[in-house]
Amino acid sequence: MEDLAPRPGDLEPIETASRDEIASVQLERMRCSLRHAYDNSPFYRQRFDAHGVHPDDLQSLDDLAKFPFTTKQDLRDTYPFGMFAVPRDQIIRVHGSSGTTGKPTVVGYTKADIDMWSDLMARSIRASGGRTGDMVHVAYGYGLFTGGLGAHYGAERLGCTVVPISGGMTERQVTLITDFGPRIIMVTPSYMLSILDEFRRQGIDPRDCSLAVGIFGAEPWTNSMRSEIEQAFNMHAVDIYGLSEIMGPGVANECVETKDGLHIWEDHFYPEIIDPETGAVLPDGEIGELVFTTLTKEGLPMIRYRTRDLTRLLPGTARSMRRMEKITGRSDDMIILRGVNVFPTQIEEQILKCAGLAPHFQIELTKDGRMDTMTVHVEATRDQASEPARAASAKELAHHIKSVIGISTRIDVSTPGTVARSEGKAKRVVDNRLTNA
Ligand code: DLL
Repeated sequence: MEDLAPRPGDLEPIETASRDEIASVQLERMRCSLRHAYDNSPFYRQRFDAHGVHPDDLQSLDDLAKFPFTTKQDLRDTYPFGMFAVPRDQIIRVHGSSGTTGKPTVVGYTKADIDMWSDLMARSIRASGGRTGDMVHVAYGYGLFTGGLGAHYGAERLGCTVVPISGGMTERQVTLITDFGPRIIMVTPSYMLSILDEFRRQGIDPRDCSLAVGIFGAEPWTNSMRSEIEQAFNMHAVDIYGLSEIMGPGVANECVETKDGLHIWEDHFYPEIIDPETGAVLPDGEIGELVFTTLTKEGLPMIRYRTRDLTRLLPGTARSMRRMEKITGRSDDMIILRGVNVFPTQIEEQILKCAGLAPHFQIELTKDGRMDTMTVHVEATRDQASEPARAASAKELAHHIKSVIGISTRIDVSTPGTVARSEGKAKRVVDNRLTNA
């Protein structure tokens, strides 16, 4: 794999600024952001007043803890545009997040917001090893989802050639990668695995393709999955994080030279980790729920937005800004099986230990009498798809899950190509506990 460490002059000064400089930029911007929210969004004025706080109460960064949280429910309650802090005609774009039920939550951007997002996505692509002049294949979905357009504008801002293919039509993804020769691909990690399968189906060795860097996010994935993809394509696999409510992709990104967690672009988003039960702010290094305050957003400022993502904050390495550890899961995705907390990423890690299993999987929850049961549906690799080989793989996986996670599971190892393929965010858990109760 190529050595992609940044060259002198590649980085913006703020990326290597001292912690004091970063903190002083944050404090100044946080004051403006709180004031902007209070003065221009009736939602925030009411919320702050009810909580007995005023933007002037912020004297230090720690004072942020005095302010109330914002949640996804607040966006739902004010659907569609009730939280915007500028007149609707200054919003030049909306995006939405699909949500599992009912209407999407809507987010809006002014021209300055789109500019800031493009700059931060360009910074993220550069941190991943991308350079001006690269060709970038964007296979995140275009539309209300922020992945496609977010990646697109960032790649253009960096001066790349963008191939805006969006998600789906996997055969054509492989054709365009082979014919155009992109250096970078931006896609969900689960869809990258579908693209990998398609390379093999067409008899093309993925290691021969032009891709040098993949920028993967929008869903949790493990370091084991990183190795799997890096080896299969002989490319760097880098993690990108973000959420529509805060901006979209590019809130935090790994640096290709260290791949040790995601640097949060702290000059625009102030992170906190809280205890999800009590709401108390936890010190850096402790695991809890990630909360963000936007420091520069105009259209939809977010004050202490609860992401429901679980991680911890770590000091900077390749950049001065703090890192967040790779996300193990969302509190919403946590499965509690007979008292044990399990995240789908933990199952992913165990699957990748078994040589006879492909990395496509889905977890099904059912009720067996009064007991919850978990079945892991997974596929055999092509060369170990015989009945006895599949039985051996099932036994091996059940053993790993039992000894590492501590739960008994049913394992269903099917023949290659039977587990539903992802074209965007993978659906890892199917909960049938109510339907067959
Ligand atoms: O998924 C934005 C995005 C697009 C990020 C493309 C990266 C790449 P939403 O649809 O609003 O936005 O979903 C946000 O996805 O709260 C996390 O739970 C999850 N998520 C996003 N990136 C990662 C990641 C986009 N790198 C929600 N690792 C977030 C783990 C991630 N989970």
